[in-house]
Amino acid sequence: MADSARIYTLGAFILGIAVTAAYQTQHANTEAKLRQVQQSDQNRQQRKNRILRLSKGNDFEEVKHIIAELPNTIEADTSDIKEGIEGCIGDTPLIKIKSLSEATGCEILAKAEFLNGAGNSPKDRVALSIIETAEEQGLLVPHSGDTIYEGTVGSTGISLAAICRARGYKAHICMPDDMAIEKSDLLLKLGAEVERVRPAPIVDQNQFVNLARTRAAEHTADPEKPGRGLFADQFETEANWRAHFTGTGPEIFHQTGGRLDAFVSGAGTGGTISGVSMFLKQVLPKVRIVLADPPGSGLFNRVKYGVMFDPKEREGTRRRHQVDTIVEGIGINRVTRNFEVGRELIDDAIRVTDDQAQAMARWLVENDGIFVGSSSAVNCVAATKLAKQLGPGHRIVTLLCDSGARHLSKFWAQTDPIGGSEEDLSLEDILNADKKPTLGGRVLGSSPESTT
Ligand SMILES: Cc1ncc(COP(=O)(O)O)c(C=O)c1O
Repeated sequence: MADSARIYTLGAFILGIAVTAAYQTQHANTEAKLRQVQQSDQNRQQRKNRILRLSKGNDFEEVKHIIAELPNTIEADTSDIKEGIEGCIGDTPLIKIKSLSEATGCEILAKAEFLNGAGNSPKDRVALSIIETAEEQGLLVPHSGDTIYEGTVGSTGISLAAICRARGYKAHICMPDDMAIEKSDLLLKLGAEVERVRPAPIVDQNQFVNLARTRAAEHTADPEKPGRGLFADQFETEANWRAHFTGTGPEIFHQTGGRLDAFVSGAGTGGTISGVSMFLKQVLPKVRIVLADPPGSGLFNRVKYGVMFDPKEREGTRRRHQVDTIVEGIGINRVTRNFEVGRELIDDAIRVTDDQAQAMARWLVENDGIFVGSSSAVNCVAATKLAKQLGPGHRIVTLLCDSGARHLSKFWAQTDPIGGSEEDLSLEDILNADKKPTLGGRVLGSSPESTT
């Protein structure tokens, strides 16, 4: 065996042991957590029944009797009380998307990550994990002036800014200046320092991630500044995929009772898809992991052919420096450690065009009352395409990452108005959106040609 092959095999073996050990610890924690959740569910149900009896009671004397009994029947159950805003992170609901499930004959379930309580996206899990890891390593001291620096398109920054406030740190966020303005407004309202910079390739020192790294080092080196600067480094840090390996993945496993055929997700840093896959493939080796990729991203080809390449690079038609799409948060043109750590576990990739994402976002409002952002819409298009490939009777899990409120000025501003019943889109219209100039008789948004 060649040396490199031996090193690879040894590496894979060690990783296997580490993952199994982490899984066993996590499994015990998750079981305890599950028992706690079941107990509090039972208590909640009992409370609900009592209130229901109250609301249905027509006999005033009986109502008075129930009220008099209440103090004796309510146990001292405080398990519903969350420990600060950090306590509202994780354990997000799994929602059946009824319209897509009915239309495809598959059960399409979505983890409502926009209901994470601090920054309202899956990045809450990552930001908390990064901060807790740094605290454990003694790298952060509350109220000392310690400041977390990060390069982010918005979501991670918002989560970091909120949790920093709760933990006594400052946040300094560098982001590209073509992201939806509501994201930087929100960061400012959370008291973060925001630097919006011109989009640039990663080789440029002023690229937003590089700039955040530099700013952190400048802070630490400056004797005039209190505390130190910590670069959060979401693209490379292990704390990112681990948050999904110990949180999102196990939650999906338990919420589905271990019955799922596929998991579909877009990737920005890759932390979500890697962390979830590393957990799910351990417990369900047959589960299919599918990447949902927007236009301009090289990840589709990285998964399919092992090379990072997008046709737009060759054509020289990219509108932006990073990724040419209206979609924010997913799609990338460079190799990151968080994507690579789980890449071998990804079975397939599905391209989604901007037109399809916009049409799906509208479909979800019109049919389900679900108002989400662009990456969630991409996930739902890919989940629907996969359902068509697999055929009826399968169960597919995906993510709803953030609310449409984060995307009003860009993605939603360019999406057709929510319409009436006459011009309703069919699912076929959405799946063929890249092949047609119009949907339901309406001209589509101004996105470029598809790269499907
Ligand atoms: C809204 C949104 N969805 C999805 C993702 C992708 O998650 P990941 O970075 O884990 O690949 C991001 C990343 O920033 C995001 O902001």
